[in-house]
Amino acid sequence: MADRAIVTGGAGFIGSHLVDALLAAGGEVTVIDDLSSGKAERVNPEARLLELDIVDRRQLEAAIEEIAPRAIYHLAAQSSVVVSVENPLRDCEVNVMGTLNVVDIASPLGVPVVFTSTGGALYGDEAPRPTAEDRIPAPLSPYGASKWAGEAYVNTWSLSSGVPHAVCRLGNVYGPRQSPHGEAGVVAIFSHHLHVGKTPKLYGHGKPTRDYVYVGDVVRALLAASGRSGTFNIATGVAADVLTVWQGLGQAAGVQIEPQLADLRPGELQDSCLDPSLAARELGWRAEVGLDDGLRRTYEALVQEFAPQT
Ligand SMILES: NC(=O)c1ccc[n+]([C@@H]2O[C@H](COP(=O)([O-])OP(=O)(O)OC[C@H]3O[C@@H](n4cnc5c(N)ncnc54)[C@H](O)[C@@H]3O)[C@@H](O)[C@H]2O)c1
Repeated sequence: MADRAIVTGGAGFIGSHLVDALLAAGGEVTVIDDLSSGKAERVNPEARLLELDIVDRRQLEAAIEEIAPRAIYHLAAQSSVVVSVENPLRDCEVNVMGTLNVVDIASPLGVPVVFTSTGGALYGDEAPRPTAEDRIPAPLSPYGASKWAGEAYVNTWSLSSGVPHAVCRLGNVYGPRQSPHGEAGVVAIFSHHLHVGKTPKLYGHGKPTRDYVYVGDVVRALLAASGRSGTFNIATGVAADVLTVWQGLGQAAGVQIEPQLADLRPGELQDSCLDPSLAARELGWRAEVGLDDGLRRTYEALVQEFAPQT
């Protein structure tokens, strides 16, 4: 594991867990984050926090050159599908230009980058499931398109510079500290509903499925991918429907509330499940936390986080 690392987006949900893991392994960590959706209080006090926008090439270059990292984990992103529909230009700026900035600065310095892309928003409804990495993407949202474009730059810069950059296509990540706005935001939303005794609305009548992967497993995958090149699905290979997630959280909470069932909203994907076997073969990684266990851990942690506001 690299001793000196940069985590872009380290004030976000997944990034903050990665920072903790790097520090626990004895690393020196700098977080680069503009705090647009991240929170400074999520950043481990042992890490240094630089508040800057990855789209600002000059500032980013100065920061990376000064830090001289051994590895960069590039998680900073406009990470909301909804926001990407409202403002596709800003989504493109951050997810495409920001990513190009990162690999274009890192490559001549010989610093490997791990880029977090999306598996859930990339393959579309027509893909066979579980979907392998060689399926041609068919994203339904600007967010899926910008992540795909970001991947292209990461892979091209890896090939042309010879520096091994990796793309990790994450499933629907859930766990402590998650925000209700991300791809697996439903876990945070449902947890809050259960905590305050509110009836949730289950779109698609609770039937849409996703590949829910626990954040601790994702962190292990990102660490394993550093210094490797290639594109890897990081997921469980198991599809779970929304009703199962609601019921699993209900069990964790010890609360039963009958959900309201509604039609799927336009543009929403019906099903998603990713084949993680390439990551198992190439990175020696596989998800270890099962859904029931992960939902219980997440509910218990989120309730502590809700406590001051509810
Ligand atoms: N959560 C999921 O289920 C999921 C699934 C697939 C992929 N991903 C990807 O994983 C990464 C982390 O996701 P997350 O759920 O932790 O999201 P998050 O929104 O919690 O974290 C993203 C972080 O990036 C920061 N950021 C945004 N724009 C920036 C900019 N211009 N300059 C600097 N920092 C900026 C935000 O402030 C935030 O701290 C993202 O790249 C996301 O697209 C997440």
